[in-house]
Amino acid sequence: MSILSIKNLSKTYQSGSRKLTVLDEVNFDIQAGETLAIVGPSGSGKTTLLGLCAGLDSGSTGSVVLNGQSLEKMSEDQRAFVRNKDVGFIFQNFQLLPTLTALENVMVPLELKKRKDARQKAQELLEKVGLGDRATHYPTQLSGGEQQRVSIARAFANEPKILFADEPTGNLDTETGEMIEKLIFDLNKEKGTTLVLVTHDLELAAKTQRIIHIKGGKIQEDVHA
Ligand SMILES: Nc1ncnc2c1ncn2[C@@H]1O[C@H](COP(=O)(O)OP(=O)(O)O)[C@@H](O)[C@H]1O
Ligand SMILES: [Mg+2]
Repeated sequence: MSILSIKNLSKTYQSGSRKLTVLDEVNFDIQAGETLAIVGPSGSGKTTLLGLCAGLDSGSTGSVVLNGQSLEKMSEDQRAFVRNKDVGFIFQNFQLLPTLTALENVMVPLELKKRKDARQKAQELLEKVGLGDRATHYPTQLSGGEQQRVSIARAFANEPKILFADEPTGNLDTETGEMIEKLIFDLNKEKGTTLVLVTHDLELAAKTQRIIHIKGGKIQEDVHA
């Protein structure tokens, strides 16, 4: 079953009188449970592509069907609903809410789903990423690697059907990055989540089942291991 289906996806930005084509007729399908990496040079459109796939962004032409739902036809509120129901996202710069503690950050998606056990579930997730004793710390009181572990716990909180990670180790040192990679792959394996990983790191990309190479907003290669 196809969990994500992208057809003729294009995105342009207007800057002054010039039109910048960032994604140019992109097509691919991802099967449920698949793991894949999107690689390409800086500025090639990877983050833009991920944002459209995850329903974070809009304003494209073509179609994005996520778990049977056509995102391009939806309002922002409808997309927010789908995101909370089906999608997890890990960002390069963590994107934790600064006024909330580690525990409260992980609770956000659970509370949006009105889960009564949000606090307990969030605590369990923090323990899973090795931060059970840091629940009451704020993001500024945590190292980069710890913040990314909180964001991983948050991303897995809703048991998403599909997890998008945009250069999740890009802001971390090598050793911390390796720990974060392992955590993402381990949790992914445990939950059987579909994983779409954007990375510069070809060694990391090689740990997935499939690598899509993108350049200038076009897919150059789509290689299954
Ligand atoms: N909001 C925006 N307005 C104008 N141009 C943008 C915007 N966001 C991204 N871009 C441009 O789109 C291109 C692709 O960016 P991005 O998707 O972030 O690439 P990557 O993640 O591969 O580095 C770049 O040339 C970037 O400058
Ligand atoms: Mg990017």
